[in-house]
Amino acid sequence: MKWFIVLIVLLTCTGKPVSSSCDIEVSPPKVVVRFGEPFSLNCSSTSNQIDSMGWEAIYGTGTGLREGVSSVALKIDSVKDWDIAPQCFVNLRNDQQCSQVRQFTVYKMPDGAFISQPNPMGPMVEGETYRMHCDIVNVAPIRNLSVAWHIGNSIIHNDSFNNPTKFPVNTLSVLNLTAQRGYNGAQVWCEAKLLFSPPIKSLPVIQSKLHKLIVLYSPVFAKPENETLELTAQSKIILNCTATGNPMPVYSWGFAHPMQLTEKNPNDSQPILTPSIQLPGTYNCTVSNTQGSSTKYFTVNEPPSNHTTFAAVVGGFVFLGAGIFICGLLFVRPDGSFSFSKAGYL
Ligand SMILES: *[C@@H]1O[C@H](CO)[C@@H](O)[C@H](O)[C@H]1NC(C)=O
Ligand SMILES: *[C@@H]1O[C@H](CO)[C@@H](O)[C@H](O)[C@H]1NC(C)=O
Ligand SMILES: *[C@@H]1O[C@H](CO)[C@@H](O)[C@H](O)[C@H]1NC(C)=O
Repeated sequence: MKWFIVLIVLLTCTGKPVSSSCDIEVSPPKVVVRFGEPFSLNCSSTSNQIDSMGWEAIYGTGTGLREGVSSVALKIDSVKDWDIAPQCFVNLRNDQQCSQVRQFTVYKMPDGAFISQPNPMGPMVEGETYRMHCDIVNVAPIRNLSVAWHIGNSIIHNDSFNNPTKFPVNTLSVLNLTAQRGYNGAQVWCEAKLLFSPPIKSLPVIQSKLHKLIVLYSPVFAKPENETLELTAQSKIILNCTATGNPMPVYSWGFAHPMQLTEKNPNDSQPILTPSIQLPGTYNCTVSNTQGSSTKYFTVNEPPSNHTTFAAVVGGFVFLGAGIFICGLLFVRPDGSFSFSKAGYL
């Protein structure tokens, strides 16, 4: 108790502060400001030993030292520098001086994002790789820039940049795109945005123009397996050879019959064949385009049981059917599929 009183007296006599800390606090703790916009900062101290305090800042916007205050605000109407760090000073009565620097992030949205190709190209070819550029113009700070490449509904590539510069720069994001058939007809574009934490919700996303991809690819059947069908007296057989490809595939049908009836019709370029001469045998369909070709086989079998009906059908039609097959006189229905109808040749 005695020592405690002595200590108090000592302190009172010498005027030494109980605490020599300045307890400076600057708010907001983090400043992200758009170039040209205003901002304000508040510096305060909870020390009871403040002699004077003030802001030292850029372009004569400091506050000077003020006495008898415990907080001082710095207001700047328009940020005109990319690298600013205002400093708050607190002078204590014991001639001690403390300060705190507030770092700024000054940003500028890009002027634009532009897609280009180093080698101007026509359509792409499936499996080959193409280089695409996205030029981002006049953006700061680049370390907070994020570039995303979109194809259709998916993001296929993201880019970020390690450059620490605070000044606006132009930059490039490169996409090495391997052409896939699924990309044919899809749009590709790039998007640039600035990422801060916490995020600034009002920041726009800068989007490039859309660029339509054209990918050439060899034909592929909707149903690639060979098919085996059975003839029935009641229903027609339908041979479905539908395929996709770019350029549009061309179809050609062939028919090999045990009776050595062969038929090829150069105009027969439909994806679906419905021969009404219901003959067993092997039908084939070849689809082709500039990128390749592919053949699918349909094996049409006689019905195992109902042989009499089938024989009657064949017997009734084989003569005319053979003639038509040899001559290649096909009748095209208005819907585009092929058919021999009874009315057609009676
Ligand atoms: C600055 O902060 C102090 C302490 O938190 C507060 O009393 C004062 O009103 C603030 N001034 C401004 C201009 O925000
Ligand atoms: C800017 O980006 C860097 C690197 O991703 C990150 O550390 C920093 O916090 C970002 N700046 C702001 C103000 O969020
Ligand atoms: C279809 O049949 C042909 C000839 O028999 C054969 O070469 C080909 O591999 C078969 N295709 C498939 C997908 O099974």
